[in-house]
Amino acid sequence: MAEKIESIRNELNDSTVSNQEELEKFRLRYIGRKNVIADLFGEMKSVAPEERKGFGQKVNELKQLAQTKFQEHITNLEPTDDSQDKSVDLTLPSASDSFGSIHPLTATKQRFIEIFERIGFNVSSGPEIEDDWHNFTALNFPENHPAREMQDTFFIEKDPDVALRTHTSSVQVRVMEQQEPPIRTLSPGRVFRNEAISARAHCIFHQMEGLYVDKGVSFADLKQTLYHFAREMYSKNTEVRFRPSYFPFTEPSAEIDISCQICHGEGCNICKHTGWVEIGGSGMVDPNVLKNCGIDPEVYSGFAFGMGIERITMLKHQITDLRLFTENDIRFLKQFSTL
Ligand code: PHE
Repeated sequence: MAEKIESIRNELNDSTVSNQEELEKFRLRYIGRKNVIADLFGEMKSVAPEERKGFGQKVNELKQLAQTKFQEHITNLEPTDDSQDKSVDLTLPSASDSFGSIHPLTATKQRFIEIFERIGFNVSSGPEIEDDWHNFTALNFPENHPAREMQDTFFIEKDPDVALRTHTSSVQVRVMEQQEPPIRTLSPGRVFRNEAISARAHCIFHQMEGLYVDKGVSFADLKQTLYHFAREMYSKNTEVRFRPSYFPFTEPSAEIDISCQICHGEGCNICKHTGWVEIGGSGMVDPNVLKNCGIDPEVYSGFAFGMGIERITMLKHQITDLRLFTENDIRFLKQFSTL
């Protein structure tokens, strides 16, 4: 019996454990419910009565030793740093965390605001559901005038007219009604037109309109501001050209073209081989509009412009299909990730 105790003690003293599996084996053999030390207690009855006390003491010491060794083995298995932790394989590729990214239209809007904020513009907003006055009448669209049909309107109610705004010029009316010049404001936002969805058109799109009203604002200011914008948004050598046009709320009016960012004037499909692409409309605010909004056109003048954020983004990133902006295909969106 004494030999048995001796051999288990030696076993315990010599034991080593190098992984969880061996630790479990150790536990089962020396600590678990039916372990070799417990078996020794079972043999107590075959020990001579006068030796029982001494035997019991030895077996108890053995039990203690098993506990101490077990704790030692556990401590030795615990990693002290990552390099010793065998459960972490540092050669494996990391689990990829995909970050969301800013939508390209939002990025363009933010860039737009950044450029104009530096020259003193603020940002204003207004309702998407508009009344006739703010969307049309104050902007010099005469009643029943075909000009209203230039913008295929979604009417919610007729007479009195309530409609989804067709442009954010309505926001400019609201600003002019509420504020005294000088006014320098940008109106970004969603606008709605009854158009069939295609690669080049959508019934919902985003506009960025700008308005500057002060004493002595001239067409030269309009041109210079838009030159500045084009060079900041695109590149330093971007050319800008103004083409005479018509809008009920501006006089004179002009379409804004920039030199094609793709072929740089050589001629390509995007610019239809003209070297120029249109980015929006502009003009000097019609005196009637100023009057409608309570601003004296004898004292003040102003310019306004409007651009489609989708269009500006398409030209910037050479995107040829408008529908990509709303499909939310991650393969498309993550190309704009700045993370
Ligand atoms: N509101 C016009 C549109 O949506 C754009 C525009 C704004 C044109 C300001 C001239 C001046 O088509």
